Amino acid sequence: MNIRPARVGDVPAIYELIRVFAERNLMIRRSLGELYESIREFLVAGDDTGSIVGCVALHVFWDDLAELRCLAVAEQVQGQGLGQRLVEACWDSARALEIPSVFTLTHAVAFFERCGYHQIEKSELPHKIWNECVRCPLFPNCQEVALIRSIAPEPVTGLPAREPAILEA
Ligand SMILES: CC(C)(COP(=O)(O)OP(=O)(O)OC[C@H]1O[C@@H](n2cnc3c(N)ncnc32)[C@H](O)[C@@H]1OP(=O)(O)O)[C@@H](O)C(=O)NCCC(=O)NCCS
Repeated sequence: MNIRPARVGDVPAIYELIRVFAERNLMIRRSLGELYESIREFLVAGDDTGSIVGCVALHVFWDDLAELRCLAVAEQVQGQGLGQRLVEACWDSARALEIPSVFTLTHAVAFFERCGYHQIEKSELPHKIWNECVRCPLFPNCQEVALIRSIAPEPVTGLPAREPAILEA
């Protein structure tokens, strides 16, 4: 399976992938218009025939925070590690942009915990992210859980080892 940045020609396939899970209330539905406008945010996974079987998007909110959204893997290829690879590829995109934290809102809590995310209170996320939530048909009774992954703070290097204190008599 090959993961690559999405192209506009992938939009109908992304739309269909998301639609299937949105109808089961596992994801938020996205219109074709929304997908074209945000196509630069998407990575897609193609199978050997070139068919799109997975997608994920990284939406930047600020200089230190982005959201992983629209993660979907086609049912016929689930359970083969593709979901985890897409989450990792999305994390690599955030790192390339020098964004230290990525959050997600999801029902697949155990899956994201396996991918290095941990649960946080939704109230810990900035208000800006709720602009989109208020447009969702499930708002305010959404059961999604917030999870986040952040890079560990850089260890301080280059400082001389501290000499033990010498006590003078
Ligand atoms: C969640 C999803 C992306 C996982 O994709 P996948 O390719 O099956 O995931 P992986 O094969 O990388 O799975 C890794 C592990 O997580 C587990 N897992 C998969 N989906 C899970 C879920 N919904 N909840 C808990 N664990 C899950 C797998 O069993 C696997 O465990 P294993 O290593 O012990 O076998 C896929 O099930 C999906 O598209 N679901 C519908 C849409 C959705 O819920 N999107 C997520 C957030 S919006």
